[in-house]
Amino acid sequence: MKIGILTSGGDCPGLNAVIRGAVLKGIKVHGQEFVGFRDGWRGVVEGDIMDLPRQSVRGISKQGGTILGTSRTNPFEGDAGPDVIKAHLERLGIDAIIAIGGEGTLAAAKRLTDAGLKIVGVPKTVDNDLDATDYTFGFDTAVQIATEAIDRLRTTGESHHRCMIAEVMGRHVGWIALHAGMASGAHAILIPEQQVSIEQISEWVTEAHDRGRAPLVVVAEGFVPSHMESPHSIRGLDTFGRPRLGGIADQLAPEIEARTGIETRATILGHIQRGGVPSAFDRVLATRLGMAAIDSVVDGRWGTMVSLSGTEIDHVAFDAALGNLKTVPQHRYDEAAILFG
Ligand code: F6P
Repeated sequence: MKIGILTSGGDCPGLNAVIRGAVLKGIKVHGQEFVGFRDGWRGVVEGDIMDLPRQSVRGISKQGGTILGTSRTNPFEGDAGPDVIKAHLERLGIDAIIAIGGEGTLAAAKRLTDAGLKIVGVPKTVDNDLDATDYTFGFDTAVQIATEAIDRLRTTGESHHRCMIAEVMGRHVGWIALHAGMASGAHAILIPEQQVSIEQISEWVTEAHDRGRAPLVVVAEGFVPSHMESPHSIRGLDTFGRPRLGGIADQLAPEIEARTGIETRATILGHIQRGGVPSAFDRVLATRLGMAAIDSVVDGRWGTMVSLSGTEIDHVAFDAALGNLKTVPQHRYDEAAILFG
């Protein structure tokens, strides 16, 4: 059996560990053959592949990024679609696809499976916003990177008695902000799930400052303050038509400074959170998911993705993952908010 693997959408630490887990198990246990599609769905719709022999995955679980490359190509755009892909798979002798990706990737994988293609999924996103899996790999590393960066902002903030705002990733959900904010002892954590007024934020900042602290605000890129209607976006749309986010910290800083009189600086962490070596937790999770994806292929569980349920790896339908976003529940925000100000 020949299996094609793709990594699609925004990259995240742990992608290579999934590829290694799948290739090693497939070769060792089932004698399968592997190829990789270059740059996500682009490689699939163009039939652009590379061989993935055992030696190609040697030592890659600790490598950031993806050896296959990625893109935000939509496999239904233009002349592409199921028929074009089927023709490529037949020509290349590929029997099944393992698609590693987030919401957009898995939605496309579902449509293609509905059209008769044999695809299983592996969920991936630093945002940790996919339902039907307790954690996605990449999230733990992103939180670690963000926390280390915020700790550094904190010391320079303390030296200058400034308010520091750290903007982290999180398009629809605030998991990175919540965890990195809690880990670094933030005086306010602002997430997309909770609208908060600029007055309230300023109050928390002032309270912390009055106690002699350098106020620290952690904000997710998708946060919408109560005076705004939608997330801050000035960078146009991505290929799936979604606004590119980033920059809310720059909007908040002068407003907080004007209201509190405290010098305020913003730092946008951006793609640093998605780069570099994965944490041990993410390597283990990603390796296990990659190996479990082989079981899905062997069992012919097309249209399903592997997931983490507690400490066990499970198999769930794409629908279960795509129906809802895994947002930060109210009680988790309330718990964190006790320590604000
Ligand atoms: O979906 C993961 C994510 O990192 C989001 O947090 C962010 O909005 C987006 O990807 C950024 O995408 P790009 O790398 O295409 O700019």
